[in-house]
Amino acid sequence: KWDMGHFLKEQIVKIRAQVGEGKVLCALSGGVDSSVVAALLYEAIGDQLIPVFVDNGLLRKGERESVENIFKVHLKVPLVVADASEIFLGKLAGVTDPETKRKIIGHTFIEVFEAEAKKHDGIKFLAQGTLYPDVIESVSVNGPSVTIKSHHNVGGLPDWMDFELIEPLRDLFKDEVRKLGLELGLPDSLVNRHPFPGPGLGIRIMGEVNKPDLNLLREADAILLDELKASGYYTKTWQAFAVLLNVKSVGVMGDNRTYDNTVCVRVVEAVDGMTATFAHLPHTLLERISRRIINEVDGINRVVYDISSKPPATIEWE
Ligand code: XMP
Repeated sequence: KWDMGHFLKEQIVKIRAQVGEGKVLCALSGGVDSSVVAALLYEAIGDQLIPVFVDNGLLRKGERESVENIFKVHLKVPLVVADASEIFLGKLAGVTDPETKRKIIGHTFIEVFEAEAKKHDGIKFLAQGTLYPDVIESVSVNGPSVTIKSHHNVGGLPDWMDFELIEPLRDLFKDEVRKLGLELGLPDSLVNRHPFPGPGLGIRIMGEVNKPDLNLLREADAILLDELKASGYYTKTWQAFAVLLNVKSVGVMGDNRTYDNTVCVRVVEAVDGMTATFAHLPHTLLERISRRIINEVDGINRVVYDISSKPPATIEWE
Protein backbone atom coordinates (compact mmCIF):
# COMPACT_ATOMS: atom_id res chain seq x y z
CA LYS A 1 0.00 0.00 0.00
CA TRP A 2 1.21 3.46 -0.83
CA ASP A 3 1.62 6.35 1.48
CA MET A 4 -1.29 8.63 0.53
CA GLY A 5 0.43 11.84 1.61
CA HIS A 6 3.23 11.07 -0.80
CA PHE A 7 0.81 10.05 -3.56
CA LEU A 8 -1.08 13.31 -3.10
CA LYS A 9 2.04 15.47 -3.52
CA GLU A 10 3.08 13.53 -6.62
CA GLN A 11 -0.37 13.84 -8.18
CA ILE A 12 -0.52 17.58 -7.58
CA VAL A 13 2.77 18.07 -9.44
CA LYS A 14 1.58 15.79 -12.25
CA ILE A 15 -1.82 17.46 -12.62
CA ARG A 16 -0.31 20.95 -12.69
CA ALA A 17 2.12 19.89 -15.41
CA GLN A 18 -0.64 18.30 -17.49
CA VAL A 19 -3.16 21.11 -17.12
CA GLY A 20 -0.99 24.20 -17.44
CA GLU A 21 -3.31 27.19 -17.70
CA GLY A 22 -6.26 25.15 -18.99
CA LYS A 23 -9.62 24.69 -17.32
CA VAL A 24 -10.89 21.35 -16.06
CA LEU A 25 -14.51 20.29 -15.92
CA CYS A 26 -15.55 17.75 -13.33
CA ALA A 27 -18.94 16.22 -12.53
CA LEU A 28 -19.66 15.54 -8.87
CA SER A 29 -22.20 12.93 -7.86
CA GLY A 30 -21.89 13.13 -4.10
CA GLY A 31 -20.14 9.76 -4.19
CA VAL A 32 -16.65 9.00 -2.94
CA ASP A 33 -14.71 8.83 -6.21
CA SER A 34 -15.91 12.02 -7.88
CA SER A 35 -15.62 13.90 -4.58
CA VAL A 36 -12.01 12.83 -4.14
CA VAL A 37 -11.21 13.82 -7.73
CA ALA A 38 -12.76 17.26 -7.24
CA ALA A 39 -11.00 17.87 -3.91
CA LEU A 40 -7.68 16.71 -5.37
CA LEU A 41 -8.00 18.91 -8.44
CA TYR A 42 -8.98 21.91 -6.41
CA GLU A 43 -5.91 21.42 -4.28
CA ALA A 44 -3.77 21.24 -7.43
CA ILE A 45 -5.23 23.91 -9.69
CA GLY A 46 -7.70 25.97 -7.62
CA ASP A 47 -10.13 28.03 -9.67
CA GLN A 48 -9.11 26.41 -12.94
CA LEU A 49 -11.44 23.63 -11.80
CA ILE A 50 -15.13 23.85 -12.67
CA PRO A 51 -16.88 21.33 -10.44
CA VAL A 52 -20.49 20.69 -11.45
CA PHE A 53 -23.08 19.00 -9.28
CA VAL A 54 -26.31 18.15 -11.05
CA ASP A 55 -29.38 18.03 -8.83
CA ASN A 56 -31.59 15.62 -10.76
CA GLY A 57 -34.42 15.69 -8.22
CA LEU A 58 -33.76 12.00 -7.53
CA LEU A 59 -31.39 12.49 -4.62
CA ARG A 60 -31.78 11.30 -1.06
CA LYS A 61 -33.06 13.52 1.71
CA GLY A 62 -30.50 16.22 2.52
CA GLU A 63 -28.09 14.98 -0.15
CA ARG A 64 -27.66 18.18 -2.09
CA GLU A 65 -27.31 20.25 1.09
CA SER A 66 -24.67 17.91 2.42
CA VAL A 67 -22.61 18.07 -0.80
CA GLU A 68 -22.94 21.86 -0.86
CA ASN A 69 -21.93 22.07 2.75
CA ILE A 70 -18.85 19.89 2.34
CA PHE A 71 -17.57 21.55 -0.83
CA LYS A 72 -18.70 25.17 -0.59
CA VAL A 73 -18.51 25.73 3.15
CA HIS A 74 -15.95 23.23 4.38
CA LEU A 75 -13.45 22.98 1.49
CA LYS A 76 -14.27 26.41 -0.01
CA VAL A 77 -14.54 24.87 -3.46
CA PRO A 78 -16.73 27.04 -5.75
CA LEU A 79 -19.19 24.29 -6.58
CA VAL A 80 -21.58 24.90 -9.46
CA VAL A 81 -24.96 23.41 -8.63
CA ALA A 82 -27.23 22.86 -11.60
CA ASP A 83 -30.77 22.55 -10.29
CA ALA A 84 -32.38 20.38 -12.93
CA SER A 85 -35.05 18.61 -10.87
CA GLU A 86 -37.92 19.98 -12.92
CA ILE A 87 -36.28 18.95 -16.19
CA PHE A 88 -35.67 15.39 -15.00
CA LEU A 89 -39.09 14.95 -13.41
CA GLY A 90 -40.78 16.42 -16.46
CA LYS A 91 -39.10 13.90 -18.74
CA LEU A 92 -39.88 11.02 -16.38
CA ALA A 93 -43.58 11.84 -16.11
CA GLY A 94 -45.71 8.90 -17.18
CA VAL A 95 -42.72 6.61 -17.79
CA THR A 96 -42.86 3.22 -16.05
CA ASP A 97 -40.39 0.94 -17.84
CA PRO A 98 -37.14 0.57 -15.83
CA GLU A 99 -34.76 0.63 -18.80
CA THR A 100 -36.53 3.61 -20.33
CA LYS A 101 -36.28 5.45 -17.01
CA ARG A 102 -32.55 4.74 -16.84
CA LYS A 103 -31.99 5.93 -20.40
CA ILE A 104 -33.95 9.14 -19.85
CA ILE A 105 -32.02 9.90 -16.67
CA GLY A 106 -28.67 9.22 -18.38
CA HIS A 107 -29.42 11.34 -21.42
CA THR A 108 -30.85 14.18 -19.39
CA PHE A 109 -27.72 14.19 -17.26
CA ILE A 110 -25.59 14.68 -20.37
CA GLU A 111 -27.87 17.48 -21.60
CA VAL A 112 -27.74 19.37 -18.34
CA PHE A 113 -24.01 18.84 -17.94
CA GLU A 114 -23.44 19.98 -21.52
CA ALA A 115 -25.49 23.15 -20.99
CA GLU A 116 -23.45 23.90 -17.88
CA ALA A 117 -20.14 23.27 -19.66
CA LYS A 118 -21.10 25.62 -22.50
CA LYS A 119 -21.26 28.49 -20.03
CA HIS A 120 -17.49 28.33 -19.59
CA ASP A 121 -14.78 29.15 -22.10
CA GLY A 122 -11.45 27.45 -22.41
CA ILE A 123 -12.29 24.04 -21.00
CA LYS A 124 -9.64 21.63 -22.18
CA PHE A 125 -9.95 18.75 -19.77
CA LEU A 126 -12.53 16.47 -18.22
CA ALA A 127 -11.72 14.86 -14.87
CA GLN A 128 -13.15 11.46 -13.99
CA GLY A 129 -13.01 9.20 -10.96
CA THR A 130 -11.96 6.09 -12.83
CA LEU A 131 -10.43 3.52 -10.45
CA TYR A 132 -8.04 0.68 -11.14
CA PRO A 133 -10.76 -2.00 -11.14
CA ASP A 134 -12.63 0.09 -13.78
CA VAL A 135 -9.48 0.23 -15.85
CA ILE A 136 -9.01 -3.52 -15.88
CA GLU A 137 -12.68 -4.36 -16.28
CA SER A 138 -13.33 -1.41 -18.57
CA VAL A 139 -16.95 -1.43 -17.44
CA SER A 140 -17.73 -0.26 -13.94
CA VAL A 141 -20.38 -2.22 -12.13
CA ASN A 142 -19.79 -1.22 -8.60
CA GLY A 143 -21.07 1.99 -7.42
CA PRO A 144 -21.94 5.56 -7.83
CA SER A 145 -18.92 6.94 -9.64
CA VAL A 146 -19.74 9.59 -12.17
CA THR A 147 -18.02 8.08 -15.16
CA ILE A 148 -19.16 10.13 -18.06
CA LYS A 149 -17.44 8.46 -20.93
CA SER A 150 -18.32 4.88 -21.74
CA HIS A 151 -20.48 4.21 -18.70
CA HIS A 152 -23.47 1.94 -18.72
CA ASN A 153 -25.48 4.83 -17.27
CA VAL A 154 -25.16 7.22 -20.10
CA GLY A 155 -24.82 7.39 -23.83
CA GLY A 156 -21.41 9.09 -23.92
CA LEU A 157 -20.47 12.67 -24.54
CA PRO A 158 -21.38 14.70 -27.61
CA ASP A 159 -18.59 15.19 -30.15
CA TRP A 160 -17.87 18.83 -29.41
CA MET A 161 -16.90 17.87 -25.86
CA ASP A 162 -13.71 16.37 -27.10
CA PHE A 163 -11.73 16.95 -23.94
CA GLU A 164 -8.55 15.39 -22.77
CA LEU A 165 -9.26 13.06 -19.86
CA ILE A 166 -7.73 13.45 -16.42
CA GLU A 167 -8.07 10.31 -14.30
CA PRO A 168 -5.92 10.75 -11.20
CA LEU A 169 -7.37 7.71 -9.40
CA ARG A 170 -6.73 5.15 -12.13
CA ASP A 171 -3.98 3.38 -10.19
CA LEU A 172 -5.96 3.15 -6.96
CA PHE A 173 -8.28 0.68 -5.31
CA LYS A 174 -11.33 1.86 -3.40
CA ASP A 175 -9.71 1.65 0.04
CA GLU A 176 -6.83 3.79 -1.20
CA VAL A 177 -9.23 6.35 -2.62
CA ARG A 178 -10.86 6.53 0.81
CA LYS A 179 -7.50 7.17 2.47
CA LEU A 180 -6.71 9.85 -0.08
CA GLY A 181 -10.09 11.46 0.60
CA LEU A 182 -9.34 11.70 4.31
CA GLU A 183 -5.91 13.13 3.49
CA LEU A 184 -7.67 15.84 1.43
CA GLY A 185 -9.91 16.76 4.37
CA LEU A 186 -13.12 15.09 3.23
CA PRO A 187 -15.27 13.98 6.16
CA ASP A 188 -15.60 10.35 7.17
CA SER A 189 -19.34 10.47 6.43
CA LEU A 190 -18.55 11.09 2.77
CA VAL A 191 -15.46 8.93 2.44
CA ASN A 192 -17.08 5.83 3.91
CA ARG A 193 -20.50 6.11 2.39
CA HIS A 194 -22.37 3.33 0.65
CA PRO A 195 -22.55 3.24 -3.15
CA PHE A 196 -25.50 5.09 -4.66
CA PRO A 197 -26.60 4.52 -8.26
CA GLY A 198 -26.50 7.32 -10.84
CA PRO A 199 -30.27 7.07 -11.56
CA GLY A 200 -30.84 7.54 -7.83
CA LEU A 201 -34.32 7.24 -6.36
CA GLY A 202 -35.65 7.07 -9.92
CA ILE A 203 -35.03 3.33 -9.93
CA ARG A 204 -36.24 2.87 -6.34
CA ILE A 205 -39.80 3.85 -7.05
CA MET A 206 -41.52 1.05 -8.91
CA GLY A 207 -43.32 2.46 -11.88
CA GLU A 208 -43.86 6.16 -12.46
CA VAL A 209 -41.65 8.63 -10.62
CA ASN A 210 -43.39 11.68 -9.21
CA LYS A 211 -42.80 14.26 -6.49
CA PRO A 212 -45.20 12.95 -3.82
CA ASP A 213 -43.75 9.45 -4.11
CA LEU A 214 -40.19 10.79 -4.05
CA ASN A 215 -41.00 12.58 -0.81
CA LEU A 216 -42.50 9.46 0.76
CA LEU A 217 -39.47 7.44 -0.23
CA ARG A 218 -37.02 10.08 1.02
CA GLU A 219 -38.58 10.07 4.47
CA ALA A 220 -38.62 6.28 4.77
CA ASP A 221 -35.07 6.00 3.43
CA ALA A 222 -33.79 8.62 5.87
CA ILE A 223 -35.28 6.73 8.82
CA LEU A 224 -33.67 3.51 7.62
CA LEU A 225 -30.22 5.11 7.35
CA ASP A 226 -30.67 6.84 10.68
CA GLU A 227 -31.41 3.54 12.45
CA LEU A 228 -28.59 1.70 10.69
CA LYS A 229 -26.08 4.36 11.64
CA ALA A 230 -27.30 4.48 15.23
CA SER A 231 -26.99 0.70 15.59
CA GLY A 232 -23.58 0.46 13.89
CA TYR A 233 -24.92 -1.61 10.98
CA TYR A 234 -24.28 1.07 8.36
CA THR A 235 -20.54 0.41 8.39
CA LYS A 236 -21.07 -3.36 8.49
CA THR A 237 -23.15 -3.44 5.31
CA TRP A 238 -22.50 -2.70 1.63
CA GLN A 239 -25.69 -0.90 0.79
CA ALA A 240 -29.00 -0.05 2.42
CA PHE A 241 -32.04 1.66 0.99
CA ALA A 242 -35.80 1.80 0.84
CA VAL A 243 -37.84 0.97 -2.23
CA LEU A 244 -41.33 2.32 -2.78
CA LEU A 245 -43.41 -0.53 -4.12
CA ASN A 246 -46.31 0.34 -6.27
CA VAL A 247 -48.47 -1.81 -3.98
CA LYS A 248 -51.20 -0.66 -1.64
CA SER A 249 -52.50 -2.75 1.19
CA VAL A 250 -55.10 -2.57 3.93
CA GLY A 251 -54.16 -1.60 7.47
CA VAL A 252 -55.62 -0.19 10.68
CA MET A 253 -54.63 3.04 12.40
CA GLY A 254 -56.57 3.65 15.60
CA ASP A 255 -60.21 3.15 14.65
CA ASN A 256 -59.64 3.71 10.96
CA ARG A 257 -59.02 1.45 8.05
CA THR A 258 -56.10 2.55 5.89
CA TYR A 259 -55.24 1.68 2.32
CA ASP A 260 -51.69 2.87 1.83
CA ASN A 261 -48.28 2.29 0.30
CA THR A 262 -45.73 -0.42 1.00
CA VAL A 263 -42.05 0.22 1.54
CA CYS A 264 -39.46 -2.49 1.05
CA VAL A 265 -36.24 -2.28 3.04
CA ARG A 266 -33.18 -3.65 1.23
CA VAL A 267 -29.92 -4.09 3.16
CA VAL A 268 -27.13 -6.20 1.66
CA GLU A 269 -23.67 -7.44 2.44
CA ALA A 270 -21.22 -7.63 -0.45
CA VAL A 271 -17.56 -7.33 -1.33
CA ASP A 272 -17.81 -5.80 -4.78
CA GLY A 273 -21.51 -5.68 -5.60
CA MET A 274 -21.21 -8.50 -8.13
CA THR A 275 -22.75 -10.88 -5.62
CA ALA A 276 -24.59 -10.00 -2.43
CA THR A 277 -26.52 -11.53 0.43
CA PHE A 278 -29.30 -9.86 2.35
CA ALA A 279 -28.02 -8.62 5.69
CA HIS A 280 -28.97 -10.69 8.72
CA LEU A 281 -30.12 -7.74 10.79
CA PRO A 282 -31.41 -8.35 14.31
CA HIS A 283 -35.19 -8.60 14.42
CA THR A 284 -35.31 -5.91 17.10
CA LEU A 285 -33.62 -3.48 14.69
CA LEU A 286 -35.97 -4.44 11.85
CA GLU A 287 -38.87 -3.92 14.21
CA ARG A 288 -37.68 -0.43 15.13
CA ILE A 289 -37.17 0.52 11.48
CA SER A 290 -40.61 -0.74 10.55
CA ARG A 291 -42.36 0.94 13.48
CA ARG A 292 -40.68 4.28 12.86
CA ILE A 293 -41.39 4.30 9.11
CA ILE A 294 -45.06 3.45 9.59
CA ASN A 295 -45.53 5.91 12.47
CA GLU A 296 -43.56 8.78 11.00
CA VAL A 297 -44.30 8.62 7.29
CA ASP A 298 -47.85 9.48 6.45
CA GLY A 299 -48.97 7.32 3.54
CA ILE A 300 -47.06 4.16 4.40
CA ASN A 301 -48.76 1.42 6.38
CA ARG A 302 -46.60 -1.61 5.63
CA VAL A 303 -42.87 -2.36 5.59
CA VAL A 304 -41.35 -5.55 4.21
CA TYR A 305 -37.74 -6.78 4.27
CA ASP A 306 -36.11 -8.10 1.10
CA ILE A 307 -34.61 -11.53 1.84
CA SER A 308 -33.26 -12.18 -1.66
CA SER A 309 -29.61 -12.56 -2.50
CA LYS A 310 -27.73 -11.71 -5.70
CA PRO A 311 -27.83 -13.75 -7.84
CA PRO A 312 -30.55 -14.35 -8.80
CA ALA A 313 -32.00 -11.04 -7.56
CA THR A 314 -30.07 -7.83 -8.27
CA ILE A 315 -29.30 -5.34 -5.53
CA GLU A 316 -31.50 -2.65 -7.04
CA TRP A 317 -35.11 -3.40 -7.87
CA GLU A 318 -35.02 -1.84 -11.33
P1 XMP B 1 -27.34 -4.41 -9.22
O1 XMP B 1 -28.69 -3.83 -8.98
O2 XMP B 1 -27.01 -4.59 -10.67
O3 XMP B 1 -26.31 -3.33 -8.67
O4 XMP B 1 -27.10 -5.68 -8.43
C1 XMP B 1 -24.95 -3.56 -8.41
C2 XMP B 1 -24.36 -2.27 -7.85
O5 XMP B 1 -24.34 -1.26 -8.87
C3 XMP B 1 -25.13 -0.15 -8.47
N1 XMP B 1 -25.85 0.32 -9.66
C4 XMP B 1 -25.53 1.42 -10.36
N2 XMP B 1 -24.57 2.34 -10.17
N3 XMP B 1 -25.34 3.51 -12.06
C5 XMP B 1 -24.49 3.40 -11.03
O6 XMP B 1 -23.64 4.26 -10.87
C6 XMP B 1 -26.31 2.62 -12.32
O7 XMP B 1 -27.06 2.78 -13.28
C7 XMP B 1 -26.41 1.54 -11.41
N4 XMP B 1 -27.25 0.48 -11.35
C8 XMP B 1 -26.90 -0.24 -10.26
C9 XMP B 1 -26.06 -0.67 -7.39
O8 XMP B 1 -26.49 0.37 -6.53
C10 XMP B 1 -25.18 -1.69 -6.71
O9 XMP B 1 -24.27 -1.08 -5.81
